[in-house]
Amino acid sequence: MSSCRRFLRSSLLVVSVAALLVIPSGLFAEAVAAIPANKGFATIKEILDRSCSACHDWTATYEGIMSGGRIVAGAPDKSLLYQKIASDQMPQEGDKLTPDQKAFIRGWIAAGAPSTELPIAVPAAEGSAAQASSAPAASQKFLFFPDKETFHAVTGFASTAFFIGAGIIGTVRFLDMMNEAHAYRDSIGWDEDTGDPAVRTAEIKAVWARNQALRWWHVGFIVAGETLYIGDAITGISMFTKHQPGKLTKHDVHRYAFFLHASMMVAQVGLGLAESYALSTGQHDLMIGLGAAHAALGLAIPAVMLGAGLENLLLPE
Ligand code: HEC
Repeated sequence: MSSCRRFLRSSLLVVSVAALLVIPSGLFAEAVAAIPANKGFATIKEILDRSCSACHDWTATYEGIMSGGRIVAGAPDKSLLYQKIASDQMPQEGDKLTPDQKAFIRGWIAAGAPSTELPIAVPAAEGSAAQASSAPAASQKFLFFPDKETFHAVTGFASTAFFIGAGIIGTVRFLDMMNEAHAYRDSIGWDEDTGDPAVRTAEIKAVWARNQALRWWHVGFIVAGETLYIGDAITGISMFTKHQPGKLTKHDVHRYAFFLHASMMVAQVGLGLAESYALSTGQHDLMIGLGAAHAALGLAIPAVMLGAGLENLLLPE
């Protein structure tokens, strides 16, 4: 193949991989945007700060709000705080809470009263035309996204897509090299059992060095994916949830997946560097062993990311 045709072929591959990836991540972004813009506990805090803090110190902290039987997680009707606002006993003075605010507090308690800023699915308030959750939420823009959660979800899925793309490109690169080397082997009639191993070593080195375009596309996709992932991780850390003893929430699972991803990624970069070393020094068996491990981990990483993203997006609180 001439170098021009090689370049065309590489570009075509990369463009189609990118198209394959962008379409589904766009769909994910839409699904994420459909989640009502509310900020979980932060919205609760906003309501209580505005309407209750003048008379109650306990509105200052999550622990304060949760104590004294005011909130029975999962049971709004047993929660003193909800009883007080539902019956309009509270706020004792000033404007009563709106039906939407009441519905939001009810939905938050029903969802287990999480301390996170993650959006909560809230049914519409009775007699209210608007979706309850849209009312109290003063959504805060984050970079170019409607809020931090959307940014987190979009960068998470997009980086997953880049890692899948890197995997496809890496696989094509590997098969390319293999086909080229095996064609050469057959053309000179070299034999696995009787041939001089130095011939094979030299050919692997040569094939590896010859066309490096896809190799750098592979690296580029990983760098792009990892850059997005760092943005994702930083916003994720700011949304870290406390573990509730005796309870495994979907946020716990998401957090474990985060640590699992980090360790897999470190191992994967190590394996990738080792694989480059095996190829550049023409070590056939080492290259196969490392390549198989690299490919298996390369499948596991986006699977864990996708699983963690979907789990958090689709499961209820
Ligand atoms: C103007 C002052 C005032 C405001 C504003 C007010 N409260 Fe109260 N609240 C009181 C007083 C006084 C009591 C104690 C008497 C009672 O229980 O009726 C009380 C009692 C309570 C209690 C039971 C005791 C406790 O501390 O757990 C809850 C729950 C409560 N308020 C919730 C709220 C909530 C929620 C809001 C805001 C939506 C609010 N209050 C706003 C004055 C106020």
